[in-house]
Amino acid sequence: MAAPVLLLLRALRSPVSAASSRFPSLEPVLPPSSCVLSSGWRTPPARTLQLCPALCAGHNKWSKVKHVKGPKDEARGRMFMKFGMMIRIAVKEGGSNPELNLNLAHILEQCRSKNMPKASIDAAIKSAEKAKPASQHMFEARGPGGCLLLVEVLTDNNSRTHQEIKRLLNKNGGMLSDGARHNFQRRGVVVVPGQNITTERALELAIEAGAEDVQETEDEEEKPLLQFLCDVGDLNKVRASLKELGMEVLSAGLEFVARTHAPLDEDHLDAASILIEALNDCPDVVRVWDNIQAHS
Ligand SMILES: *[C@@H]1O[C@H](CO)[C@@H](O)[C@H](O)[C@H]1NC(C)=O
Ligand SMILES: *[C@@H]1O[C@H](CO)[C@@H](O)[C@H](O)[C@H]1NC(C)=O
Repeated sequence: MAAPVLLLLRALRSPVSAASSRFPSLEPVLPPSSCVLSSGWRTPPARTLQLCPALCAGHNKWSKVKHVKGPKDEARGRMFMKFGMMIRIAVKEGGSNPELNLNLAHILEQCRSKNMPKASIDAAIKSAEKAKPASQHMFEARGPGGCLLLVEVLTDNNSRTHQEIKRLLNKNGGMLSDGARHNFQRRGVVVVPGQNITTERALELAIEAGAEDVQETEDEEEKPLLQFLCDVGDLNKVRASLKELGMEVLSAGLEFVARTHAPLDEDHLDAASILIEALNDCPDVVRVWDNIQAHS
């Protein structure tokens, strides 16, 4: 848990605001949320943050991976396809009007921040309305080096998808593993650009916005990002507060955040990266969450 640092900081600075650290139950069916495609933890320079044991190297954890990913436009194409699936889930759950469907609004915000073309977004919403029924599932897995994965799928044939996920895991040093989800906590996550924001300022922003914690991380192009974590029910409040404080919100949504991390050496990291790529290449997979920490 990364929250204690901020709790401590809050206790020091504002005796009235006691952050609640509830543990929302993990449901098998996820509402759509945001995804930071690659993220990691950073050992922060500031004194206060050093109290936090969970933090470690926060540059993009995949930056040292030997395994070379495919061409960039292919990766973008795949990302847009996944956004399309998230849109589909959101529309199914709450309709196609983003003014009435907050989850959809959050996803569209994220699509735009990743420069997904408007025509593609509109097409995804249109086709979501007509798509044949599909259901969401979450597979729990263990990967190379003992890392834990949650694999969210959207499928019209769960037995086929189950077989395929199992095959990909077996082929790449993983296996299905019940209980992995208990290592993840569902949190509200608001992501803003982290350029020119000191750790001290980030913590202040977190306190001012009512977030429980803030992590420094990077996007897939290694640009610094700040992720503000909060209670599921506080997501919109934190998002709105950060905007009021002048932050540009890149995404806001519910995510699975690891409670404890698996530090992987370089070989395991390579293997895990190949496994996660393979899972992401499966057309039924929406997102993969992991608890991997790169060994620094
Ligand atoms: C679902 O997939 C399984 C395994 O591939 C297949 O045997 C079955 O016929 C499929 N069911 C439907 C309704 O398509
Ligand atoms: C960050 O600071 C540098 C140097 O002060 C400046 O050149 C750059 O434009 C700033 N970037 C952002 C995103 O504010």
